[in-house]
Amino acid sequence: MSAASVPSREPTSTESTPKIAPLKPGDVVVILGAGNMGSGIGQAAAQAGFQVRIRDLSEKDLERGRAAIISTLDGAIQRGKSTPAKKADVLSRIAFTTDLMEAVAGARLVIEAVFEEERVKRPLFEEVVRHAPADCIVATNTSSLSVSKLFEGLPGPSRYGGLHFFYPAAINKLVEVVAAPHSSPETLEALTRFSYALRKVPIRVEDRAGFCVNRFFVPFLNESVRLLDEGVANLTTIEATANELLGTSLGPFQLMNVTGVTIAYHSMGSLHAAFGEFYAPSKLLASQHEKKGKWDLKGGGELQTAKKEAVRRRLLGAILGITTRLVEEGVASAEDTDRGATIGLRWARGPFALLNAEGPAKALELVKEVHAHWKEAFPVSKELQRLGHEGAPVWPLAQIRVRKEGALGWVLLDRPEVMNALNSRLLEELEQKVLATSNDPEVRVLLLSGSSNVFAAGADIAEMASKSLGEGREFTMLGQRVTRTIETLPKPVIAVVEGYALGGGLELALSCDFILAADGTTMGLPEVTLGIHPGFGGTQRMVRLVGRARTKMMVESGMRIRADEAERWGLVARTFPPEKLHEEARSLAKTIAAQAPIAVRLVREVTDLGAETDLPTALRLEAESASITFSTEDQKEGMRAFQEKRPPKFRGR
Ligand code: COA
Repeated sequence: MSAASVPSREPTSTESTPKIAPLKPGDVVVILGAGNMGSGIGQAAAQAGFQVRIRDLSEKDLERGRAAIISTLDGAIQRGKSTPAKKADVLSRIAFTTDLMEAVAGARLVIEAVFEEERVKRPLFEEVVRHAPADCIVATNTSSLSVSKLFEGLPGPSRYGGLHFFYPAAINKLVEVVAAPHSSPETLEALTRFSYALRKVPIRVEDRAGFCVNRFFVPFLNESVRLLDEGVANLTTIEATANELLGTSLGPFQLMNVTGVTIAYHSMGSLHAAFGEFYAPSKLLASQHEKKGKWDLKGGGELQTAKKEAVRRRLLGAILGITTRLVEEGVASAEDTDRGATIGLRWARGPFALLNAEGPAKALELVKEVHAHWKEAFPVSKELQRLGHEGAPVWPLAQIRVRKEGALGWVLLDRPEVMNALNSRLLEELEQKVLATSNDPEVRVLLLSGSSNVFAAGADIAEMASKSLGEGREFTMLGQRVTRTIETLPKPVIAVVEGYALGGGLELALSCDFILAADGTTMGLPEVTLGIHPGFGGTQRMVRLVGRARTKMMVESGMRIRADEAERWGLVARTFPPEKLHEEARSLAKTIAAQAPIAVRLVREVTDLGAETDLPTALRLEAESASITFSTEDQKEGMRAFQEKRPPKFRGR
């Protein structure tokens, strides 16, 4: 059945499509296809508390999927990472069916993971759309087809997108969230948050061939084969050089033997069609694919040390040339490209970390070499040329993102792969960015939050582990400086926390005006469990909020409490269901932003200062501060507006 003949239950305009809401545990998630990927995704979703329905064509296919899930769950029990009770719990949330209508009834999300062919996927989507609720998100796990084309012309275009998992899907933490041309921000946000709920690290990518990761990974395999074909070095040398460069244990040839030469060949075919000659499969790769053979690793020859540098330059030049270009095209950010490599491919360093280790000038030289070798292999990134020519020390990589929404400035901690662990670089960048955001005249309220479903799991233990006394002190003082900067900003800062606010994470939140938390957030100062104690002001700010008994119980034991208890103690101002947290925080921040700015600034100050002094002094301070407000235009306006029964227009004067 063609797209045109799908009975349209909704208009195709984005505006009138039902609102897409974030998913929550318990919602129904349907997986189409019980193969390796489908069963892995289903398992991960069931582990995260979703009601999963896996649908395939035959009982035999379903049985294979069920067996694969049971085998992975048993493996986790054997490794001591799970228990028979947990296994039973996960399995109780997975239903298997061959009936599509039954599968998609009441579904909130459908993820397609069937055979990688448009003629197989497309009719399936047409059928899904006929039976699934109108607000159900429909995603494809395709790795090589165009997401836009797969969904073209289907009704309700804003609810489609790509969700590309990496093998093995139950374990590999990377997910590419692919934007189709009409995917609404709500759909992409819901897919991103769904991925976080599955304990994955999603990266946002555009719908171009190879998305982000395969765009550079497969050409890296291809370039390795070309080096062999050209006789630049033997297989052993290419394999060893790649492993040294990327910090991997499986080199390109061994990887192709595991994942399939054919897959590499076909993926190069899609990239070739999209991006031109440089991406053409090498002759040797093509013949190896035709022979259906594996690479002869044992016969790879003796290591040729003298040839390693030539191999390194070519591989690095190709990787950097492609990745700087894909970032320039807007396919993914540099930070996410690095996540793709380190999380999805298990490289020790991502392409941009590799670039920065070389320096942009040297990186540009390597890229130009490959560019010249393949006669205009790819357009050389303008940004790389600029940084290289200007002698910039690095390609800047951010760990803090800032998003402006009118008068609100969101400052987001952005190291989701380590639960936003606070390292020195992040703290320095946080200080710069909160100051810059606060200095923005349009911003009236700042919101400090995590970019994922976690606020921050503390100071970075990996960085702290090797610190000496002096370095420990320096790090602690840095943390104190940043928290004090936040506390003394001239504008209100709201901490919006979920998942975890532990150690330095909680200390950061405590330096904000108040904390709004998602139900279930775990909070605590567990430093003593690591042989240290809080140093970013945690003991002192906590004691002022909840008193000595509770503070000492927390910091001496390292115990963790849930947000509802923290709310009862007065550590948290309010709690909300996780899916409502950001909306509620936004609404409260807008309310604050709408008040008279001078009065808000003064009342914050007087509350903080007064709390640190005796009552008579504090009352005097309050009286003086309140009197100042009578000298403002906003006071006149506020009271006039009340009398005239209209909303006030405050100007901060
Ligand atoms: N510093 C550095 N890395 C951290 C971190 C921290 N404070 N907290 C979490 N991470 C990293 C983990 O090492 C892991 O990285 P990996 O995948 O490369 O191994 C990743 O974040 C995810 O954490 P993980 O422990 O696998 O997740 P979990 O859901 O099982 O547990 C926590 C989450 C928060 C309970 C657990 O990570 C934890 O206890 N963290 C330390 C909390 C702490 O002591 N903070 C105070 C520091 S002063």
